[in-house]
Amino acid sequence: MTVRAVPVGIGHYLPERVVPNSEFEKTIDTSDEWIRGRTGIENRHFAREDERTSDLGARAARAALDDAGLNPDDIDAIVLATSTPDLTFPSTATMVQAAIGMTRGFAYDVQAVCAGFIFATATANALIVSGQARRVLVIGAETFSRILDWADRTTCVLFGDGAGALVLEAQEGTGTTADRGVLSVDLHSDGRFRDILYVDGGVSSTGSAGYLRMLGREVFRHAVEKLAQTSETALEKAGLSSQDVDWIVPHQANLRIIKSTAAKMGVPMDRVIVTVQDHGNTSAASIPLALSVGKERGLLKPGDLLVSEAIGGGLAWGAVVIRW
Ligand code: ACO
Repeated sequence: MTVRAVPVGIGHYLPERVVPNSEFEKTIDTSDEWIRGRTGIENRHFAREDERTSDLGARAARAALDDAGLNPDDIDAIVLATSTPDLTFPSTATMVQAAIGMTRGFAYDVQAVCAGFIFATATANALIVSGQARRVLVIGAETFSRILDWADRTTCVLFGDGAGALVLEAQEGTGTTADRGVLSVDLHSDGRFRDILYVDGGVSSTGSAGYLRMLGREVFRHAVEKLAQTSETALEKAGLSSQDVDWIVPHQANLRIIKSTAAKMGVPMDRVIVTVQDHGNTSAASIPLALSVGKERGLLKPGDLLVSEAIGGGLAWGAVVIRW
């Protein structure tokens, strides 16, 4: 018998405030035309001052549980990916656990920046396959607006806030690629690239949260090469190829990265779910947001084969192949 971690519910939450590119024209030397042309981003959502990452995560979690027709106590574990936790500790995952009224099981955070949701899904899959949990809520939740330097036009226009959540459930499979669920995972990191994408603060260094710093061109170069490669490796591990893919559901950082990666894989853009225009880069939240919006748009259907890929600070990157 092969145990598979099968998606049974998906949901998301976006803060109410929508900020169009034109708003940045008032404060920094930029334009809607530059942002759209270089990134594909048109709008992003920013959380209210009193809205925390755990608030966003809890709303997405409730939506995913509703979609699955489950109660909080049907869940054995929460694995939450974030780089913008409410507090240094306890974990944002335990705050979501309390907020949704889940009184059993366990919850913890995973930190792999923009690749966080891939790493969290890999962790949830391992919990399920090893029999430690039957149902896992995998959440990506971020308030990146809190770590943006509003005077730095090369970064502050790129990011947004939001959360998405996916319920994975242990189901019996046949061990073939026809099974629903997570079919393969491919993870990487290389800490030598720390300085091209990082936050210039932290508990044991500056004692403050710090601001996001990025050498965009360098990250771009790594992204296109590594995302296509990890997607192809993940597909190979599952015994599949990019020809089998119904949907690429990529990390939503930049439309040009998304297009170049799809082109490298030989997958046409009408088989790629794109939300970056509406959300900006929401880091660990971007893939579950795209999955949820993809389902809402009627694109993702049970049985579809999808590959999700992401890269972020570390560098950390990876891909997961899921039959929906
Ligand atoms: N408005 C106007 N001009 C700008 C802006 C702006 N907001 N930002 C930069 N520019 C200028 C630059 O100063 C530069 O001017 P110069 O030529 O006079 O020096 C020019 O535009 C071109 O800058 P580049 O950095 O070469 O522009 P590029 O085409 O590479 O686009 C971008 C920049 C959008 C950041 C791109 O490199 C990118 O998307 N990189 C990847 C980012 C990413 O994927 N991050 C994901 C991980 S994030 C995470 O893990 C948290």
